[in-house]
Formats: sequence, C-alpha cells, structure tokens
Amino acid sequence: MATKYDFGLIGLGVMGRNFLLNVSDHGYSVAGLDRDPEKVEAFANDTEGKVSLSTTDAKEFVQGLSTPRKIMILVPAGQAVDAVIEQFESMLEPCDLLIDGGNSLYTDTNRRMKRLSEKDILYLGVGVSGGEEGARRGPSIMPGGDQKAYEMVAPILESVAAKVNDEPCVAYMGNTSAGNYVKMVHNGIEYGLMQLIAEVYDLLLRHGRLSNAELSEVFEKWNKGRLQSFLIEITSQIFKTKDDITGNSLVDMVLDKAKQKGTGKWTSQNAMDLGIATPTIDAAVSMRQISGQKDLRQSMSTGNRYALEEYNLDKEELINLAERALYFSTVVTYAQGFQLLSVANEGYKYELDMEAIARIWRGGCIIRAAFLEDIRSAYQQKPNLPHLFANAEIRGVLEDNSSATRNLMIHALQNRIPALALSSALNYYDAITTARLPLNLVQAQRDFFGAHTYERTDREGIFHSQWG
Ligand code: 6PG
Repeated sequence: MATKYDFGLIGLGVMGRNFLLNVSDHGYSVAGLDRDPEKVEAFANDTEGKVSLSTTDAKEFVQGLSTPRKIMILVPAGQAVDAVIEQFESMLEPCDLLIDGGNSLYTDTNRRMKRLSEKDILYLGVGVSGGEEGARRGPSIMPGGDQKAYEMVAPILESVAAKVNDEPCVAYMGNTSAGNYVKMVHNGIEYGLMQLIAEVYDLLLRHGRLSNAELSEVFEKWNKGRLQSFLIEITSQIFKTKDDITGNSLVDMVLDKAKQKGTGKWTSQNAMDLGIATPTIDAAVSMRQISGQKDLRQSMSTGNRYALEEYNLDKEELINLAERALYFSTVVTYAQGFQLLSVANEGYKYELDMEAIARIWRGGCIIRAAFLEDIRSAYQQKPNLPHLFANAEIRGVLEDNSSATRNLMIHALQNRIPALALSSALNYYDAITTARLPLNLVQAQRDFFGAHTYERTDREGIFHSQWG
C-alpha cells in the first residue's frame, strides 16, 4: 500500500516550506503542494531522505493524505485563501480539516468556516507568529475554531511550536475566528512596539547623537534587563549590520517609508468598532502612513537632522530616560491590546483565556518579551481582570516610570522630534487614570447644537437644556 502522509500544506513559499519542514523534523510524514514547480522542487530537495511528497498535482496531494485529512493553507491572506478553498472543497470528504495559517481577517474566517461546515469540512483559523525563522524552529501558534478540530492536530502543533520552560507556545484560543483575532491583536501590539522603539531611536540619534555602534550597545544592554524581548534584540543587531554595497551602516541606507499589510490597521479599526481606545497602536499605523508620504514630507521639511536645542546633554541621563519611557510605553501598549482582547471576548463570545494568550506569546512570536511573564501572572491572580492597569504590580511599575516618560517627552517636544506613539501611551495612561475628564464640555456642546441630551452628575435621567 502506498504511503499515506500525516499532514499536508498548500503554499510552499518560505513560511509554508519552513513550517512543513518543522513538522517533518518532528517525525510526521508530510505532503506539500504548490503551483510553482520551482518551489515544489526546492521543498523536495529540503526533505530528501524523509517520508514526504512534494507536488504540483492537487489530486495526488489530496489522495496521498491519510484520512481524515489535515491540510494547512499558507498563502497570502485574502482572495488567495478563498481560491484554495474553492479548489479543494469538492475534493475533500466530511471530517477532513483545513487549517488557515495566514493572517486572515477574522470575519473572513467566520464566513469560510460557516460555508465549509455545510459540507462537514472542519476549519481552523490559526495565527502563526515568528516569521521565517519561527516557522522553521518553533513559532507561537494561536488556533481557533471547533475544539474537536483542534484536538485532531494538537499533537502536531504542540510538537512544532516554540517551547518556554518545556511549555509549548500553542493553546486552543477559542471558537470561530478566535485564533485569527488573537493574531490580529498580536500584530497590532507588534506595530505599537516597533513604532515606540523607532521613536526612542530617533531621540537617541538626533537628540543624544549616539552613533550606530553606541545604539547597538544600548539596545544590547536593554535586552539583558526588563526590556528583554525579540524586538529589542533584533534592533541591537540591526545597528551593527553593514551594507555590502557602500560599507555604511545598513539601517542608514534604508528608505524611511514603512509598508504595511493591514493587520495593525484592522486592530485599530476593530478597536474603534468595539469602543475601545488603542491610541498607541493607532499612532503606529498613522506613523506608517505619514512615513509613506515621503515626497510631501520632503517638500515641507524644516530641514533639521539634529535637535534644535543647544547640545549640552548628559547622554547617560537621556539613555536612562529612554529606557524608562520605553518600558512604560511598552507596558501601556500590551495593556491596550489585552483590553481589546477582553472586550472582543465578551462581544464575540470567543471564550478566550487571557493567561493562556500571555503564556503562548512568551516564545516564538514577534512580541515575545520578558514582560509577558508579568501579564501572565496578573491574569493568573485574576482571570477576569478588566484592565492590566488594575493589577497593583503593573500599576506600580507605571507610576515608577511615568515621570521619566514625561521628561523624555519634554525633550521630544522641545526639539521637534515626533513621538506620537510614546506621547499617546503617556496621554492614554493619564486619561484612563483620571476620574474626571473634560468631556462634560463635549456633552454640553453636543446638547447645545444638536439637542443630543446629556446625563447629570447629581441625578439619574437624560436631560436637554437651552444653553446660552
Ligand atoms: C508575525 C508577523 C507576521 C508579519 C507581519 C508583518 O507575527 O510573524 O506579525 O505576521 O511579519 O504581518 O506585517 P506588516 O507587513 O503589516 O508590517
């Protein structure tokens, strides 16, 4: 009898190929499918000596898999996923399982899941984080959908996921599109953290006048402390990298226009829909948009590369403020993301476990960081914590570092160094810890011009007044 393969994957691009090699390393026989013969050949070469199939032939691929089939789709999010589903749904049998491992929009996953359930085909929307290296050596995996479907592949996913203290960075997230939703918020936080690091870099470069070698050392040092994280680690390495073409620091040769594929924007859009503020993530999306307007920026530029202030700065003091502000704003960004997850959980009835999310984000993914241990512990103490700031230890850390953040902001403001994400984190913190905001005036204005009514501080009910 011909070999039947344990696990199939459609889309042998770098992510798909690496993920499937990872599955193969863990003792599973694997089958890969791609339309591109070059990718098929590359995968076949990589798996030489292992039980595997690499083909462009969809029929051979489907027939080669043991039933119920377990097939992961790793193609670009959007239309391409629908096209694959359309091609394969008639070839599959009831109880076969399709797993979308891309950054699909959660509402697309709900739609696809519903459609396939009519044919009794199981479907999981699975967030996979960690980039190419993560896919190959151990990503963080966020599966959502029918729990029984998850159980069919749990042993495989647990074996390929990153491990932290022997715990695999994968857990069932919840029903329907929970996996894609959690991955979307992961990416929103990723956008926020990347922007915060970029703003701190700008301050250290333009105000502190640190060289790239010094910047690399600073980030390396930070990575040994409480800021320890994947993004801080790679940032230190970025400052060390030389350009093969010019011999300059490579980072200085990179055009300052950041691209985006949409997951950060979706996070902000969805937070707005759910009535939750995620201003640091919003700021990160806005800054990518402003960065994209390079020509306009250039035509209106004030021209100063370096800070306006007289240069009489204590570098060590600036580095110290920057570390504290970055830590403060990092905590704030995670808090915004986790509050969004809690609120979405209520609205979409995902049954998310916040502690499990913090746990599986500790390894493999792009936002892995030492601080996730503190988040995990906060949710261990109180699973239904309404906001991370309501945890006494986290609140204490924020209080300890808020004045340093204010001081750093003064440097930024006085020197025209834009710090939208850093300042949004600080302002968010100040707003959400202020019992009385000036929005009574906004209500008064609304009632003045539109009779939109208002509530009162001293009695129940809805009121309208003649103003002026
Ligand atoms: C991950 C990353 C991954 C991808 C981002 C990049 O978790 O591995 O988030 O999913 O690199 O989607 O997103 P942008 O192209 O929008 O920056």
